[in-house]
Amino acid sequence: MTANELRKKYLDFFESKGHTIIPSASLVPRETDGSTLFTTAGMHPLVPYLLGEQHPGGNRVANVQKCVRTGDIDDVGDNRHLTFFEMMGNWSFGDYFKKEAIQWSFEFLTNQKWLGLDKNRLYVTVFKGENGIPRDEEAIATWQKVFSDAGMDVEVAGEDEMIKNNVRIIPLGTDDNFWIAGATGPCGGDTEMFYDMRPEEGKLEGKFGDLVDSFRIMEIWNNVFMEFNKTAEGKYEKLAKPNVDTGMGVERTLTVLDGGYTVFETELFKPLFEKITEISGCGYQDSEETKKAFRIIADHIRASVFMIADGVTPLNTGAGYVLRRLIRRAVRYGKLIGIEKDFTVSVAEIVIQNFGDFYPELKKQREIIFAELKKEEDKFRKTLEKGLAILNKLYPIGVKQLENLEYSPVIGKDVDPEKVFDLYQTYGFPFEIIQEELKKRGFRAGEEEFERRMKKHQDLSRTASAGMFKGGLQDSGEDTRKLHTAAHLLLAALRQILGNHVFQKGSNITPERLRLDFSHGEKVAPEQLILIENLVNRAIDAKLDVLSEEMTLEQAKKIDAMGVFESKYGEKVTVYSIINDAGEVVSREICGGPHAKNTGELGNFKIQKEEASSSGVRRIKAVLT
Ligand code: ALA
Repeated sequence: MTANELRKKYLDFFESKGHTIIPSASLVPRETDGSTLFTTAGMHPLVPYLLGEQHPGGNRVANVQKCVRTGDIDDVGDNRHLTFFEMMGNWSFGDYFKKEAIQWSFEFLTNQKWLGLDKNRLYVTVFKGENGIPRDEEAIATWQKVFSDAGMDVEVAGEDEMIKNNVRIIPLGTDDNFWIAGATGPCGGDTEMFYDMRPEEGKLEGKFGDLVDSFRIMEIWNNVFMEFNKTAEGKYEKLAKPNVDTGMGVERTLTVLDGGYTVFETELFKPLFEKITEISGCGYQDSEETKKAFRIIADHIRASVFMIADGVTPLNTGAGYVLRRLIRRAVRYGKLIGIEKDFTVSVAEIVIQNFGDFYPELKKQREIIFAELKKEEDKFRKTLEKGLAILNKLYPIGVKQLENLEYSPVIGKDVDPEKVFDLYQTYGFPFEIIQEELKKRGFRAGEEEFERRMKKHQDLSRTASAGMFKGGLQDSGEDTRKLHTAAHLLLAALRQILGNHVFQKGSNITPERLRLDFSHGEKVAPEQLILIENLVNRAIDAKLDVLSEEMTLEQAKKIDAMGVFESKYGEKVTVYSIINDAGEVVSREICGGPHAKNTGELGNFKIQKEEASSSGVRRIKAVLT
């Protein structure tokens, strides 16, 4: 079955069950409050309707939604992770519920008129009940009925989660079978459908989780029964009317229909791989390395094409940063299989050919897609050239003595980690290429060793400077002042690296550390944290004065001072500004103070932790040493 046939079958099926077919929403969420950079599931653009608003298409809708999830970007290259994927979904907004949803799922999967999958290879999980919410007996009974109507006597697994004999229904807890997008919002228990990928290995038996991990079974469809709205306080409020939200991956379903083991061997990727072979001269199956490179290149360029079509451009912040990273990673993996010339556009062309009928925006934006890809690829190749030139100067290749030295641990003794790190930090030269180039020069440089070395180095300098201050030279009031100034620099750096959707959502400063909560929908990547930390430290090293001025709120707004709790301010406010030597405003905030007089007093800024605070809000803890 082709992807076009699959999408059509799905939509036709649900149309026959009274659903209105709606188009895919943009990959970029409309409400750009920063809570998410991309649409991550079919339900994402439909949240208002799941919370009770009337959908113009009625109470039953179905679609195929473009989605991007970047949390697993480093897993792309295995057999099932993707950054971009398509999710087919059917929704009930307070209309039908568990019985119909489960019956229709079974019918669509197994009926010959539709997918005609083998019912004997189907296993399902249900919510076993937790946190005061009971086990989903209705889902269990419904599954038993649909199987029994199909002539199969089906049993429910016990606490041991073992599949054996007639067991096909496995109750699992919150981690597996309770679905929520983020920290708050509509949510509920779910039932997930799994397919046996290797029946030739004999009767399927074993612990459910092990069978998933060994890829014997793969999830293909999730039906969420949304009965609650989780509030910011962590309460589960019963929704006035319960909803159904389902998600079925196009790529995984095609894999199953093809009888293959991996999403990458479906017809969605075949034409892309052929193109990559034509460009690189390598085959997908040549080695584990070529396989991985092909998968990453195809996935990343496919995702990039869809992102650009929806208006994203490569930047150092926000969604643009994700796009930039995807394109650069694709180019980087291209180099690994010997592609030295620009190639992203020719792969993009195949993406547009294959997906442009169902997603006409790709055809419409064709020229922009090509232009953005080309621009970014050129830029990156220039970065690589520049980094290489610097590296050659630092560690000239071919110098005999380098080969004879003993390097253990390799990085550190002979490579100046500061300088090498600077290549990454200042010139954007990728870690992997630094390693490879060092290897060519006789250094056995592994990423872990390099990172460990960098960490150790930072810890050492932190311990050293902490020791210097041990004498108790400063009182705690002074520490608080400095951390307060550091918090301003941190907010400014976050906005610079992550984007202007970042606003302060709260802060708490003790003499030991600062804590800042800010709006941002995703985990901040480790390399972004490094950039943020460095920006703050750069402002500290520049020894900039912290200026304070009294003015009216109006004036403060006019000069773009940031303020958090506007309603609390009186007529006159104090604005603290930090301005660099080029006359640019580094930070400008309405604030009660007190602050350090000069950033040079702050010492060394170090981020200790980055974590979720609440939905769409992240939290950073940092110290000065
Ligand atoms: N919202 C559910 C999911 O993404 C269907 O799995």
